[in-house]
Amino acid sequence: MADRLKQVVSHITGTEMSAELWQNVPLAPPDSIFQLTAAYKADTFKDKVNLGVGAYRDNDNKPWVLPVVKRATAILLNDETLDHEYLPILGLPEYTAAAAKLILGADSAAIQEARAVSAQTISGTGANHLGALFLSRFYNWNGPPKVYISNPTWANHFAIFRNVGIEPVEYAYYDPKTIGLDFTGFIAALEAAPERSVFLLHACAHNPTGVDPTEEQWKAIAQVIGAKKHYTFFDCAYQGFASGDLDKDAWAVRYFVDQGLPLLVCQSFAKNAGLYGERVGALHVVSTNSETANRVKSQLSVLQRSEISNPPSHGARLVSLILNNAELFEEWRRDIRTMAERIIQMRHELYRLLTQELHTPGNWDHIINQIGMFSFTGIKPSQSQALVEVAHVYLTANGRISMAGLNTHNVEYFARQLDAVVRGTLSSS
Ligand SMILES: Cc1ncc(COP(=O)(O)O)c(C=O)c1O
Repeated sequence: MADRLKQVVSHITGTEMSAELWQNVPLAPPDSIFQLTAAYKADTFKDKVNLGVGAYRDNDNKPWVLPVVKRATAILLNDETLDHEYLPILGLPEYTAAAAKLILGADSAAIQEARAVSAQTISGTGANHLGALFLSRFYNWNGPPKVYISNPTWANHFAIFRNVGIEPVEYAYYDPKTIGLDFTGFIAALEAAPERSVFLLHACAHNPTGVDPTEEQWKAIAQVIGAKKHYTFFDCAYQGFASGDLDKDAWAVRYFVDQGLPLLVCQSFAKNAGLYGERVGALHVVSTNSETANRVKSQLSVLQRSEISNPPSHGARLVSLILNNAELFEEWRRDIRTMAERIIQMRHELYRLLTQELHTPGNWDHIINQIGMFSFTGIKPSQSQALVEVAHVYLTANGRISMAGLNTHNVEYFARQLDAVVRGTLSSS
């Protein structure tokens, strides 16, 4: 009787049906970075250090709301003309236009000749997705759709391209022996790939290695890309964050555009404006003429319409204000320098501690040569594990550290733990 009653109840509520429907869904592994953050939060050790997170922290390990963002927010709050209507499908026009100038350069021929098309996206991730989706539909593939991505790269690149049916293939980028760029391997991969291959390049501050090509190396890379008619998919998530100078960090993108190479650029304001949660980004597709650009634009509109219909307005309004107002723009440049310089200072302090105070075995030049938020320390996964488990220093297994997690209060503790793990005196229990 009780069983019969249960059956009737489950029939009415549908619980039996939904259990059956999803019982074959495998449990996905948790995202490793977010898992690391959760472990850090749960740790009660007072000197714990979080070097996993890819977000800027001030010298007191706090998230930093940029002063210029506070000013822009106050202006928006008092603007009676604003409403909550939908934005156009491709976003706030004054935002996308200013964002294009920021990355391509105010005097860019591509902009003047109306060859650059811009779409506002859900931050850099959304730009990568829309760019990948657009290529999956319209690129003139030479064989099955593939994208060449650096080994290693931002882990999300794999999923983003696979989601739209483009298979990621790795190209040589990082050389563990030199803890630097495998320039020869990179060029060889560009040469070996079939003509018209798609190459994803990090525009600056390569994630996760912090290893960027020099300007001379970029020129050689561009030369092979041109000769092989490859397509460049630039991912630019850290403009200004790498060197502290917005123009310097856009150098590679602008150089490629000047060379007439076909490309697109994914842009994010998460890091350089500290607007992680606002999801402000843009996709810029640079074509050879304005007529082609118009056709590209029409198709980006169609894709965007079916995916998000219209992008969100608040973050775009903030960035638009900052980019289009000379005074706010100057203030933003100063805020960017504050972040970049603090990170650069931490690189120098860590380097000094390892080389001059602790005399840690090995060469640590890469700590000051690498650029941007991340640094590849060159330590082994077992050493990373020991740092997490024994020293309460949270970092990813590949030995990547976020420089933003270091500050004047914890850099010495970290240097000592790193020194111990390198000497083998700190071992995982
Ligand atoms: C290389 C790279 N591309 C894109 C992104 C996307 O960031 P967001 O979607 O927060 O703008 C990131 C963020 O870590 C990144 O490192």
